[in-house]
Amino acid sequence: MTSRMSYSPFSISTAALISQANLLKLTSLLCHALQFSFKSIAYYIRRASLINLSGLAGSSNSTGDDQKKLDVIGNDIFVAAMRSSGKCRLLVSEEEDQCLIFNENPKARYAVVCDPIDGSSNLDAGVSVGTIFGIFKLGEDTEGKQEELLLPGTELVASGFTMYGASAQLVITMKGGTVNGFTMDNALGEFILTHPNMRLPRSRAIYSTNEGNSLYWDEPVKEYFNSLKFPVEKDGKPYSARYIGSMVADAYRTLLYGGIFAYPADKKSPKGKLRILYECAPMAMIFENGKSSLAALKTVGASPYVLHANVFPQLVARPSTAAWNA
Ligand code: F6P
Repeated sequence: MTSRMSYSPFSISTAALISQANLLKLTSLLCHALQFSFKSIAYYIRRASLINLSGLAGSSNSTGDDQKKLDVIGNDIFVAAMRSSGKCRLLVSEEEDQCLIFNENPKARYAVVCDPIDGSSNLDAGVSVGTIFGIFKLGEDTEGKQEELLLPGTELVASGFTMYGASAQLVITMKGGTVNGFTMDNALGEFILTHPNMRLPRSRAIYSTNEGNSLYWDEPVKEYFNSLKFPVEKDGKPYSARYIGSMVADAYRTLLYGGIFAYPADKKSPKGKLRILYECAPMAMIFENGKSSLAALKTVGASPYVLHANVFPQLVARPSTAAWNA
């Protein structure tokens, strides 16, 4: 039996990431800083139960959620890595009320948006969580002001996420590029390219949403999900439900297996729950480059008006026949 995984020099993550990065002149220092964050966060998540890092930190974040100890540590790691890369001028994190401005790097031209540990309510149960990030390029005349990154997702030059599960999986895409997946090899301490050119499979009858919110859904949303569960075609089979409750994990499964992921706005959260800048926009860019549907594209084009704004409609990812045939 031949192994899927190749250890040829071209599979080593740093080489692969840097060669992708060169396409857009995304600096290798920023790539190294991102990888350092993912490896460090993965390390602390794995050790959390052993070194008393489970549970709440006793504080809340910019969006009002209770912070876990690992939320605080993940954010500290990410902030320190971006600051010390020397290439990041602005940083927006879900865990920080304000945009962080690194004036010590006046020549830095990148703005990074991130959710250091997405899905952290799942942390203590050992369920997969992840880091989501997006990168904008600032103009040469940047003044390093937070307004400069209130941009639509179409302006992102790169985005990705790392899922911390049975293994750490890094998925990254560049503007107009393909989507590539890397698996962390703990022995080497490197991300290895294991899933080149990821594309949503054309069809798979899986839907992924928090159905517990259906009481609050608008009629068209209810009708849509009912159409998946009660097909009208003769011999039509209902979709299966899969919902982890960590967007990164649900998105990763959707990228690999296909199907639909959605977090619809509802009467309880009329503007939706997910945040546009560091949750929906980066994820939508990945799904768009992985041949997803128009709904994801609309999310890519939406523009935040404040740092932690939500977005409506919320991200819906499903395979797009048009994009596949293009
Ligand atoms: O936005 C944070 C998040 O944890 C996502 O990762 C996830 O998709 C969603 O919220 C889960 O929300 P709920 O618990 O309402 O289903």
